[in-house]
Amino acid sequence: YSLKKYNTFGIEAKAKQFIAVHSVEELKLVLEQNRTQKKFILGGGSNMLLTKDIDALVIHIDIKGIKIIAEDENYVWVESQAGENWHEFVLYTIDHNFGGLENMSLIPGNVGTTPVQNIGAYGTEIKDTFISCQAVSIENQAIKTFIKEDCNFGYRESIFKNEVKDQYIITSVIYKLTKKNHKINTSYGDISTELAKYNISNPTLKEVSNAVIAIRKSKLPDPKELGNSGSFFKNPILKKADFEKIHQRFPEMKYYVISETEVKVPAGWLIEQAGFKGKRFGDAGIHKNQALVLVNYGNATGQEILNVSRDIQETILKKFGIHIDAEVNVI
Ligand code: EPU
Repeated sequence: YSLKKYNTFGIEAKAKQFIAVHSVEELKLVLEQNRTQKKFILGGGSNMLLTKDIDALVIHIDIKGIKIIAEDENYVWVESQAGENWHEFVLYTIDHNFGGLENMSLIPGNVGTTPVQNIGAYGTEIKDTFISCQAVSIENQAIKTFIKEDCNFGYRESIFKNEVKDQYIITSVIYKLTKKNHKINTSYGDISTELAKYNISNPTLKEVSNAVIAIRKSKLPDPKELGNSGSFFKNPILKKADFEKIHQRFPEMKYYVISETEVKVPAGWLIEQAGFKGKRFGDAGIHKNQALVLVNYGNATGQEILNVSRDIQETILKKFGIHIDAEVNVI
């Protein structure tokens, strides 16, 4: 069974068996009936690099539905099932004038994977509006609710990538959004510049979303046109003392101070400085507008993309003494 259209990198890889589930009940049944089988869970396929065929039963989570589960004067609690496309869900919230997700417009993938890596963009992360998620235990099909405090959210991190990795399947997520007095955040780099083009000083949710969409479209390739998984690497976080030594050698290095002891360096900058931006090796390459994004020009294999990523990691380590970690799950 070909997985090419189920991963945004557009990698040709095969699954031994494939099944799409459309409800929690169906998911529980499939898990129960395949207790001894090796299983592989597939959501939106937007954050993984397939380097080989999957010798397992691939379960594609295709559970849909959005509903308001509570509201008061100021807030609304919206529950989305895991299989909803993230961007379509964001557009739904904006159409209803619910605030909180607008800066995360156009991020590829499905709702169910947003807590796994605490997705984020333009100064907002999922943890800012996340209330809880429901998950099914792969082992015994029990349903468990994870509230925010359970999730250990960090920069592109959560319990689902660590302590309970491969143990649960997230089936729905609840977000708490504003109905009024929206906390519009345009402080991140290009958003205010984009809004200024249209002389917008008090933007609506829709205007912020449109600005984010315009910026993302100008920098990030559309997976429908050019296979990719968004940022391939995480931005490295360095101890301040280590950073300062490196910064002396490379005074033009971009950085953000994130605490008294830590500094984050944009990996895109490092990769560009190392000369990789826009380079192509066969059908694997580095995007011309955003060096953090690796792309598949058509028929690259996962292994070819992985090789390019390793070449980048080694070069950055040699040149700057900085190790960059993949953000994408390499399978
Ligand atoms: N930069 C370069 N060259 C490049 C790319 C970036 O010099 O080729 C520099 C930029 O000039 C800027 C800095 O690096 O000074 C940061 O760039 P940008 O604002 O584009 O953001 P990023 O740090 O590269 C992160 C997220 C993106 C998210 C943007 C905007 C990570 C791993 N990536 O990228 O998330 O859209 O910020 O908030 O944190 C994703 O996770 O898939 C993703 C696209």
